[in-house]
Amino acid sequence: MARIPLKGPGGCYDILVEPGLLQQGERLETEFGLGGRVAVGTTEVIARLHGRTLAQRLPDATLVTMPDGEAGKSLTTVAQLYSDLVAAGLDRQATLLALGGGVACDTFGFAATTYLRGIRLVMAPTTLLAMVDASVGGKTGVDIAEGKNLVGTFARPAAVLMDSDVLETLPDREWRNGIAEVLKHGFLADEQLLDPALHLRENAPSLVTRAVQVKVDLVQRDPFEKNVRAWLNLGHTFAHAIELVSDFRWSHGEAVGAGLVAAGRLSHAAGLCSAALTDRIEDCVAGAGLPIRLGGLDAEEICAAMATDKKRRAGRVRFVLLRALNDITLVDDVPMETVVEVLNGMQGVPVREKNSC
Ligand SMILES: NC(=O)c1ccc[n+]([C@@H]2O[C@H](COP(=O)([O-])OP(=O)(O)OC[C@H]3O[C@@H](n4cnc5c(N)ncnc54)[C@H](O)[C@@H]3O)[C@@H](O)[C@H]2O)c1
Ligand SMILES: [Zn+2]
Repeated sequence: MARIPLKGPGGCYDILVEPGLLQQGERLETEFGLGGRVAVGTTEVIARLHGRTLAQRLPDATLVTMPDGEAGKSLTTVAQLYSDLVAAGLDRQATLLALGGGVACDTFGFAATTYLRGIRLVMAPTTLLAMVDASVGGKTGVDIAEGKNLVGTFARPAAVLMDSDVLETLPDREWRNGIAEVLKHGFLADEQLLDPALHLRENAPSLVTRAVQVKVDLVQRDPFEKNVRAWLNLGHTFAHAIELVSDFRWSHGEAVGAGLVAAGRLSHAAGLCSAALTDRIEDCVAGAGLPIRLGGLDAEEICAAMATDKKRRAGRVRFVLLRALNDITLVDDVPMETVVEVLNGMQGVPVREKNSC
């Protein structure tokens, strides 16, 4: 088991990584303050898999559910949740336990920080992506018509409980989505995360612990996202555009896989890193069963999507690039022709046979 403290401006809290943690009813009550009035907030799917049994294990808990999937991460859902929390009798002394993937963590996290001007929040992520990324760092939020995650808060949970046993029910495609973020953390700060042996499900506790540590270090250095936390966007400028251009047929993790390859190739094209590094990135992404080619998605369309995103943020297209492994730089003014060239060089069948990293 691991206990990773996260020190932020509002104080310190622990992130626990431990198989079977959510089954230890007594410990949840005494150590994590879940013995009083609690709402277990989760999606309808996770309620069936894990939420109901967890709520039954706690002495005074009510299950509150939201729709599954990104479409549920909305202000409409949050408005309904406020009513459900009132109906569940949640007062200012109560706790909201957000259980689920990034969608549930973001939405219930947002509800917990705004309901009654903020009640106690404990997070229990259930996807690999939510463990290594969404539940770490306190950002909560929902989507609006104009874009994803445009409304949100910075939250300080009382604790984040990562029970690696809940990952046993996670579909392979969702597991790979999480591995994409793990690889990102590996390129950013911890080469050991690139070891394919660590990506086996049986190694989930050590994988999660190492990957969480990378994000914790960056969040502690930059709690309000003013500088180094932007490194976590490695591969993501491309990924968001790829998701959009594919009409969201590509999952986030798949888009991040190809986005990491694109970021590596662009780093090389910009004269920042060696070709050996771009090959290494490609091998790691392919080895994880993630796409390294664009499968016909149009380079110009991807660039147009990145430019629209830039306009919406009234900024520049900012790329997180690599000089070497664990040596990151932010670049604002890459010529779009270079980006198109890089993306054109990535045409082909997206996924290749498993490979070692
Ligand atoms: N707040 C942040 O800092 C941050 C960071 C990264 C991502 N995010 C957000 O996270 C979201 C993506 O998170 P996600 O990939 O976890 O998606 P998700 O929450 O939609 O979960 C993916 C799928 O896995 C299912 N699932 C979850 N846990 C399961 C389990 N244990 N067993 C079986 N099925 C399970 C869900 O029902 C869902 O269908 C996005 O909305 C993104 O914006 C937030
Ligand atoms: Zn991501």
